[in-house]
Amino acid sequence: MIPVLTIDGPGGSGKGTVSKRLARELGWHLLDSGALYRLVGLAARNRGIDLANDIQLAEVAEGLNARFVVPDTGELVQTWLDGECVDEHLRSETAGADASVVAALPKVRTALLARQRAFARPPGLVADGRDMGTVVFPEATLKVFLHASAEERARRRYKQLMEQGLSANLRALQEEMEVRDRRDSERATAPLKPAADAWILDCTDIGIETVVSMIRERLQQVL
Ligand code: C5P
Repeated sequence: MIPVLTIDGPGGSGKGTVSKRLARELGWHLLDSGALYRLVGLAARNRGIDLANDIQLAEVAEGLNARFVVPDTGELVQTWLDGECVDEHLRSETAGADASVVAALPKVRTALLARQRAFARPPGLVADGRDMGTVVFPEATLKVFLHASAEERARRRYKQLMEQGLSANLRALQEEMEVRDRRDSERATAPLKPAADAWILDCTDIGIETVVSMIRERLQQVL
């Protein structure tokens, strides 16, 4: 069995950074499933497809021409869509909001399932998302659900956007994140929620370093 570590949680909980760090330290593959939903939204926008048209959106998801490139220098993964590096567009709050709209469509989720599962290759996978432990990898070796207060999550996301040179307003950001959380948690298909057997970690007051080492320790116990 290929070991899979799932890290789910709301936006700004730190799961992206924690997942990247763990994948690098373990030498495992990384699945940033949010990027796939962001790419579907972006591809749809580029092609003028209505974000409510689930049939066309599922076709976009099926045929997504995406590449994830890890440069030799630095840890930031570059994301390419149809031969173009789309990192700048992809991380924006608009792309996040679009992703959350298309992600609520069952046909889109089904269309992305096999692509996500194909990331599980030796020596192992760290899978970051909302439904990694509940739907995509229900047999995962270890399931973690990261949580943090809404204020702290908005602050982290704000800092992240600033570091990437993107503009943001903290108050507006927190409101947008709340709308997105609500949509993600209340949707009928694969809502944002911890798997029954997930380890729930509130990292409001714990630094990334500590979270990473706590998860590594727990992983050693179950591998
Ligand atoms: O994690 P990220 O902010 O990139 O995710 C963007 C959106 O994609 C989320 O708000 C959520 O609606 C959707 N998503 C999802 N299932 C996942 C990952 C992301 O529905 N596994």
